Amino acid sequence: MASSVANTTSSKRRRLLLLAAAVALTILVPPVSARRLPVQLVVYVHEILDGPGQTEKLLIRGPGPENPTLWPPNNLFGDTVVMDDLVTEDLAIDSAPVGRVYGTYMTGSMTLPVHTVSFTLRLSAGPYNGSTLVMAGIDDETIAREHAVVGGTEALRGAQGYVLGEVIPVSPPHYVVMKLTVNASVPVPTTKAKAAASHLIIDM
Ligand SMILES: *[C@@H]1O[C@H](CO)[C@@H](O)[C@H](O)[C@H]1NC(C)=O
Ligand SMILES: *[C@@H]1O[C@H](CO)[C@@H](O)[C@H](O)[C@H]1NC(C)=O
Repeated sequence: MASSVANTTSSKRRRLLLLAAAVALTILVPPVSARRLPVQLVVYVHEILDGPGQTEKLLIRGPGPENPTLWPPNNLFGDTVVMDDLVTEDLAIDSAPVGRVYGTYMTGSMTLPVHTVSFTLRLSAGPYNGSTLVMAGIDDETIAREHAVVGGTEALRGAQGYVLGEVIPVSPPHYVVMKLTVNASVPVPTTKAKAAASHLIIDM
């Protein structure tokens, strides 16, 4: 009997301790969103497909077949274009330069207007000067262009999110601007976060 009372008391105490620990954790662990910093950017990519100042060129002529939904010359399955495009702050090509986009896109479907894309935005101005954002996915001309932000470097290490692309015809067919709206986040980079985490681990 006595031992059963003691057991009940100690299990009550244990439960109280667990409850206290849970409350402490709830207070100490910030919500996931608070441990990442938002990265929101709007930039304009100048794609000059031919003529003077050309920034994109056919890298590989694909084996085909011809994709009936695309126009020549780059309409063969596997056609791959390499890019080195100027990126500016505003739509005008002579607005402030903020970086470049390097990468490739490839005709990825035999029947649909789908390209696979892989590109890296390197910033050369602003708070992320010197940092890169790596983006990849597919471009389906029949749906909204959205790519994954799969990573980054320097101040943008560990970036995750998405980027929306909107084509603005400036002087088609050889010059278009791609407006990129990046909505991503990066882990809070401070050693404070690490210290807080180790404090939690020791407490537990
Ligand atoms: C960006 O960083 C580079 C290298 O540190 C520096 O030379 C350049 O002036 C910076 N550009 C701007 C616009 O801050
Ligand atoms: C950015 O993405 C987050 C998370 O998906 C979302 O909550 C937020 O509304 C988005 N912001 C913008 C400006 O689209």
